[in-house]
Amino acid sequence: MTTVQFPKDFKWGTATAAYQIEGAFDEEGRSASIWDTFAKTPGKVLNGDNGDVACDSYHRVDDDIRLLKELGVSVYRFSIAWPRVIPQGRGDVNPTGLDYYEELIDKLIANGIEPFVTLYHWDLPQTLQDEGGWENRATMDAFVQYAETVFRKFNGKVKRWITLNEPWCISILSNYLGAHAPGKQDMQAALDVAHHILVAHGLTVKRFRELGIEGEIGYAPNTEWRTAYSSSPEDVKAAQLRNGSFNEWFLSPVLKGEYPRLLTDWYESKGFKVKVEPGDMAIISQPIDFLGINYYTGSLIRHAAGNDMYDSEEISSSFAKTDFDWNIYADGFYHVLTWITETYGQIPIYITENGACYEAELQDGKINDEARISFLRDHIMALHRAIASGVPVKGYMVWSLMDNFEWAFGYSKPFGLVHVNFNTLERTPKASYHWYSQLVAANQLEI
Ligand code: NOJ
Repeated sequence: MTTVQFPKDFKWGTATAAYQIEGAFDEEGRSASIWDTFAKTPGKVLNGDNGDVACDSYHRVDDDIRLLKELGVSVYRFSIAWPRVIPQGRGDVNPTGLDYYEELIDKLIANGIEPFVTLYHWDLPQTLQDEGGWENRATMDAFVQYAETVFRKFNGKVKRWITLNEPWCISILSNYLGAHAPGKQDMQAALDVAHHILVAHGLTVKRFRELGIEGEIGYAPNTEWRTAYSSSPEDVKAAQLRNGSFNEWFLSPVLKGEYPRLLTDWYESKGFKVKVEPGDMAIISQPIDFLGINYYTGSLIRHAAGNDMYDSEEISSSFAKTDFDWNIYADGFYHVLTWITETYGQIPIYITENGACYEAELQDGKINDEARISFLRDHIMALHRAIASGVPVKGYMVWSLMDNFEWAFGYSKPFGLVHVNFNTLERTPKASYHWYSQLVAANQLEI
């Protein structure tokens, strides 16, 4: 047996997001977000599910804290719902909307768990969408006002902040592929959104520094790793384009102050424009304190002339899959992390999400999700190899603490360490919860 030891002050945690767990969709002044609208539009979410009740975490702070405490984690990543705090998107603050987060944050701290807070995990107030949403530059200023409200309220209590979660999803998945709210299918709109959320991120970092808020601020893009199907120059370029569209597009502006040329050329060759106004790149590239990295999957990529996803196609047949049909590619996790450090230098990294969907059933009060354990073990081993190669990873958070509303797939795709019965809202820790709790306590893996 080999022991794989993690650095002394390594932070282990779990992650969730407001719309996916809170419920209480119309309570205490919360307004509708684009996800309320989208989920209630027939045909958008599997089985017509929505987040009205979700895991009911809004009313179950003590239950959630108990689960975290017994798991033994030192950090908990969650997001704040903008429509609770500033229901009209800009203007009046709803103080009651902050009470749930205050209680959660205070109780986390009292239990020795660090709150790791995401400001934007996709629940844009619908009122702002009605004015063009992220396609409208005015939304950037509304976001800064919301962020400032939350910074001031929790300054000193929250020590690590994330501006945006998964910018690729906010832009391309939601505005070009149409799979997430607001459900558009327009590449130019997606590029405009991508740019505006990056500027909003930069403006928020700037405001954070101006206000002298304690602690650190970062950003959490989703990454995937695409390997060329063959060594032919066409396939190699196709993989570069795919990695570029997904990884570099959202990392290089923030960490280098520029968009990757290969991609801007490709977009322009198809008639799309990246509309950068003077000063935007300097704002986007405000220094951040850490990078949050979400990683789930990857694939092989082959050249496919004319395919509107970057003249390329995915070849996935050689991979084992999770129950979401996502390729399991733990080596890709190692590759993406070492690539980030080689390309952008020694910026500290937190793995803000990694995990898998498996549909293990409740049997005699137990859920034996061995497949999730093996997924996590393989990815945590790859992470350890990356740390040993010099990648400065400071912490790791499993997605997710509990089964929850998996966006367009509703409640059909469980990612939790804890099972949730969506009829009774009862929470039952799975085998993976107990496995993870041993890893967290030992700060090492036995393999
Ligand atoms: C990334 C997203 O941030 C999270 O909201 C989602 O549930 C997981 N991936 C799984 O798809």
